[in-house]
Amino acid sequence: MNANSKILVTGATGNVGRQVVSRLLTAHVGEVRALTRTPDAARLPQQADVRQGDLADSGALESALEGVDAVFLMWPFHSAEPAAAVVDAVQRHARRVVLLSSGAVQSGLPWDRQPHPVGRSHRAVEQLIEDSALRWTHLRPSTFAANALWWADQIRTGDAVRGAYGAAAMAPLHEADIAAVAVRALTDDGHDAATYTLTGPDVLTQAEQVRVIGEALGRPLRWQELSREAARQLLLADAAIPDSFVEVLLDGYAEMLDAPRPVTTGTVEEITGAPARTLHQWALDHADAFRRRR
Ligand SMILES: NC(=O)c1ccc[n+]([C@@H]2O[C@H](COP(=O)([O-])OP(=O)(O)OC[C@H]3O[C@@H](n4cnc5c(N)ncnc54)[C@H](OP(=O)(O)O)[C@@H]3O)[C@@H](O)[C@H]2O)c1
Repeated sequence: MNANSKILVTGATGNVGRQVVSRLLTAHVGEVRALTRTPDAARLPQQADVRQGDLADSGALESALEGVDAVFLMWPFHSAEPAAAVVDAVQRHARRVVLLSSGAVQSGLPWDRQPHPVGRSHRAVEQLIEDSALRWTHLRPSTFAANALWWADQIRTGDAVRGAYGAAAMAPLHEADIAAVAVRALTDDGHDAATYTLTGPDVLTQAEQVRVIGEALGRPLRWQELSREAARQLLLADAAIPDSFVEVLLDGYAEMLDAPRPVTTGTVEEITGAPARTLHQWALDHADAFRRRR
């Protein structure tokens, strides 16, 4: 990529997309376009060329894609419904795409044999991209550390996080590390047809994550186990989590209890040269979100 490149970042206000935008701007790789449905609320950097649009709105997408060389594609839907049209539009304009896929995708299985619904929709998008004329890189991240923001209200107002499946283990990944890998894949050569499985550096149960966040905040926090039904009611009351995602989330935690302990990868460090950030570091970076209000 040179200083005249144009890169479109979709999901530009999201956990990862926002960091991709700022890192591309810092790297001075040319024009950075940022797609959002609500530019007025987006709080994106002034240097970004902010475009209004829904990924499912073909007119808005076509216009955002005009003259673009590369696309960071974040898939916001819980199905692959509009994927064929989106991938087709991207390949008519750009040469390269970096897809924010998911660690829920199981390697070696086609989309319709993926056991997990999130894996199914993401693998379907991956396959459409692989069958296109695009140069592609797929990122398959483990659980985002940012999911801990779902606990922010409970941590601001008390010393316990209530939920189900506290023994479910995962390798929480800092969004800055996903974005750093995405920027390398968008701007350097050598990432074509690569699928990167990205994880955080440590395997932690949900209960351990609460303890680590407490250590970073400088106060003791503990996990309080709830029944699945009580946790379902709590999640349904949370405006940040779509109702349709609640069962998927709980099923995912239940599966983690039975699955072999997750394995971490060194891929973040291999691609970026820096080790993946710990959950402790993530909590320090987001301490404001958990701070008690006076
Ligand atoms: N959370 C995890 O643990 C995890 C793990 C692995 C993979 N993933 C994957 O990573 C991706 C991001 O997940 P997240 O939970 O972190 O999301 P998020 O960052 O909260 O993303 C929300 C973003 O999606 C955009 N968006 C929503 N609907 C849109 C639409 N119809 N058209 C265009 N943009 C739309 C929003 O943009 P505006 O509101 O500004 O339009 C916002 O930027 C998902 O594909 C998810 O499956 C997540």
